[in-house]
Amino acid sequence: MKPKPSLIPRFNLDYSFSDFLYGIKSCFSSDEFDLKPLGAVFGKTSFFFTNYGRSSLYVILRALNLPKGSKIGVPLYSCTVVFDAIVNAGCVPCFIDIDLNNYTMDPADLKEKIDDLEAVVVIHTFGRPADMDKIKAIAGDKHVIEDCAHSLLSEYKGRKTGTLGNVSFFSLAKYISAGGGGMTIVNNSDLSDSIQREIDALKKPSVLNNLKHSVIVYLRSFFYHKPWFGLFALPIGLSIEDKVDLTTKRSFDVAGINNNDLCLMLKKLAVFNMNVEKQRENSFFYIKELKDTSVTLPYEGKATYCNYYLFPIKFENKEDRDTASDFLRDKGIDTSKLYSETPLKAKQFYGYTGDCPNTEMLADTILTIPNHYTLKENELIKIVKTAKEVFI
Ligand SMILES: Cc1ncc(COP(=O)(O)O)c(C=O)c1O
Repeated sequence: MKPKPSLIPRFNLDYSFSDFLYGIKSCFSSDEFDLKPLGAVFGKTSFFFTNYGRSSLYVILRALNLPKGSKIGVPLYSCTVVFDAIVNAGCVPCFIDIDLNNYTMDPADLKEKIDDLEAVVVIHTFGRPADMDKIKAIAGDKHVIEDCAHSLLSEYKGRKTGTLGNVSFFSLAKYISAGGGGMTIVNNSDLSDSIQREIDALKKPSVLNNLKHSVIVYLRSFFYHKPWFGLFALPIGLSIEDKVDLTTKRSFDVAGINNNDLCLMLKKLAVFNMNVEKQRENSFFYIKELKDTSVTLPYEGKATYCNYYLFPIKFENKEDRDTASDFLRDKGIDTSKLYSETPLKAKQFYGYTGDCPNTEMLADTILTIPNHYTLKENELIKIVKTAKEVFI
């Protein structure tokens, strides 16, 4: 790829220099963390923290104390690190297809497979809440774990995602850009003690690790912005990706959360609803402007509030999707073919047998375009104008 300083990055890593300084200051703080901002958003539940969202899922599964080799239902349309968490916890992923209306778990496919499962991981993909009433009814007394990596502040029937299943987890590196970390919310108090025991057994990052982490996150964010993203980060990233397959790494390091990530998340959360509102506005602008083109746009499901963490567009076929992605990048707009490789990786490494046709189709035809709350008006206009040239 030719260096392109004007390139708009596909994701939003909003970790500023003042976030960096705040994180550094909190590395040295010995104060107890004030979890009030969490209580204000999620109500009276218990909160636990690890170094990644995937680690939180691992901890939850271990705390459930399931027999070794238990099957866990999980949408195939996901990031493979979710499957890694399941495998590392001694369980086996059982892949569930998605509903093409909202790209989350298909209750009908879950119903077919539920008898074999010990627990279900539901993902509110792209921030769009899954059909929790149907899923919980099908799951019966089996544990329903919500994966809210994408769905911070999304709502289903007036309740925040993360408070709907027995237990849930969030990835703090994503929408809220806290740097890293995973958060677990326990809604079924029976689980709190066993989760606490698992968390107590994790190694705690040292002050030095906290500091190193802050520096790395800040640099990563710095290079994830214009002009450095298009000049260096993406061209170098793509050339490494061509030589080394990073997605085959299957183990991960489970540890406690870095203090700086936790402090920053708490600070940002208190006002994060304003960023979500801005990102929703951007998304509604795209929906209005692109409604007469050939692509399928996302929409907000009945009785849901979608945080529009990402803006997924579905094409008629793979060729159109790939053409659009190349065209947009050429014009200065980076996009993501999110989870496109997952069905293949799942066949190679996680025992997927080919029974999720909707997921395979979506993986070949999906593209997310930047809709970040940090985009400027001229960037939004440029994205719409360029998209119209290729979506037709
Ligand atoms: C749907 C989903 N769940 C969980 C995770 C894991 O989050 P983390 O990167 O914090 O481990 C990811 C990460 O990419 C994800 O896409």
